[in-house]
Amino acid sequence: MASSELDQRWVGKTFDDFLLRPQMGVSRSRREISLTTGLTATLRLELPIVSANMDSVTGAEMAKAMALEGGLGFVHRAQPVERQAECVSRVKRSHGAVIENPLCLPRGTSIREARHFARSHNITGILIEESAGSGRLAGLLSDRDIPWVEGSEERPVDDFMTPIEQLHTHPPGISVEEAERILFERRIERLPLIDEGRRIHGLITRKDILFFRERPFASKDAKGRLLVGAAIGARGDYLERAAALLEAGADCLVIDIAHGHSRVMGEAVGKIRARFGDVQLVGGNVATAEGARFLSEAGVDAIKVGVGPGRGCRTRLETAAGVPQLQAVREAWCAVGETTPIIADGGIRDDKDLFLALICGASTVMLGSALSGTDEAPGQVIEDPATHQKRKIYRGMTSPQAVFENLYDCEDAELVESAFTTPAEGQEEQVSYKGSVTEVLGRMRGHLQSAVSYAGESSLEATRRKIVPDPLRFLIPLSEAARRESYER
Ligand code: XMP
Repeated sequence: MASSELDQRWVGKTFDDFLLRPQMGVSRSRREISLTTGLTATLRLELPIVSANMDSVTGAEMAKAMALEGGLGFVHRAQPVERQAECVSRVKRSHGAVIENPLCLPRGTSIREARHFARSHNITGILIEESAGSGRLAGLLSDRDIPWVEGSEERPVDDFMTPIEQLHTHPPGISVEEAERILFERRIERLPLIDEGRRIHGLITRKDILFFRERPFASKDAKGRLLVGAAIGARGDYLERAAALLEAGADCLVIDIAHGHSRVMGEAVGKIRARFGDVQLVGGNVATAEGARFLSEAGVDAIKVGVGPGRGCRTRLETAAGVPQLQAVREAWCAVGETTPIIADGGIRDDKDLFLALICGASTVMLGSALSGTDEAPGQVIEDPATHQKRKIYRGMTSPQAVFENLYDCEDAELVESAFTTPAEGQEEQVSYKGSVTEVLGRMRGHLQSAVSYAGESSLEATRRKIVPDPLRFLIPLSEAARRESYER
């Protein structure tokens, strides 16, 4: 394994300790600068940003938005297995060239139930099957078919759907281009894929195809579905949880525990590997060279680095354990080099911190608070009645609020016991409401592209190749005065 000594000048250092020495610019247009990176050796992202598996940051909506922008979201695990798996499945179903297991309702379902079903799954077209579970197409009920006049609620969907005889359908195995042509020529929105026995094999929609044409940078799997990650623990139900999440289509699992350089983590990685083979697996968190080497040797596909830098973290205050985040990222890189990609997790306050983490060794950066406060993060917008300022809640996963709220649904006696006996190492706070995460990510993308340009390169990959082997050649350590000049505004 590639391994080098940590230069002592990194000790005690974090983001505000350095500036990048500007290099001669070579790119013509910053907007064309590629930010492609590897979350793991096989999962490529066009934006080097992933959203934290926290219950105030990543549910299905955040995970969808992250993947649509070229990043990836890790759905949090502070919820029952079925609910987390449902989140993953929502992301996998939301877009894709072909919806492989389209949602169906049987003939005879009432319009009231169909309306509720469409709303709760956020879909605009429901395939109607002959009988529950038969998988044989009877018709299609689109939102335009659902009556809004009173008195129809108890009538069956059969009265309003387009029956199969009048539907355009196609055998499975059609190319995206062919589907696009048919949808256009026949001016239709949806094309169910069925075999000679009318058995349903998939659904192609015009909306999905157009969507992907407009977003070439979205993070997609081989079937054109959005990529999504999900978190598991290292004790309790984690193996069943992993099975359910993979079954729901998760592309990557993260075993996320506070102290990832631990025996319990080593055992969990071993058991996941034994049961699920080469699933893409992230392990964390660690913050030292020894921790990174331990996870790499245990066989993870990426290492999550960060102990205590997060905005909702109190670990350093309560236990004195932790490593300044830029030192931690550098230590990890010196220990494992590029053999196991590093995810820098926590402590990003300004957009420049993203770039510093990436040129000091990280391949991607995980964000919590910077993405909370957006529409896509779970939780309500709270408006202060006096000032009209809008805010949302952001909380550490071991804050008392997160721990106790998530116990309501918890059937795992061991977890409940540990929640009551472990003092909090996280805190809750209110953050400003920020609008759509798409805009936040757009801003970060732009700033990263500018940073690459200042680094004298035309892609993030080239920048990392040049700087990561010896970042101190390109960084200026700051005095207190320089820090004031740089950051005080
Ligand atoms: P940021 O700074 O982006 O950090 O908000 C997100 C990361 O914080 C970690 N995290 C915690 N750390 N106690 C901790 O010590 C907690 O309660 C807690 N909750 C989240 C986590 O690594 C996340 O990705």
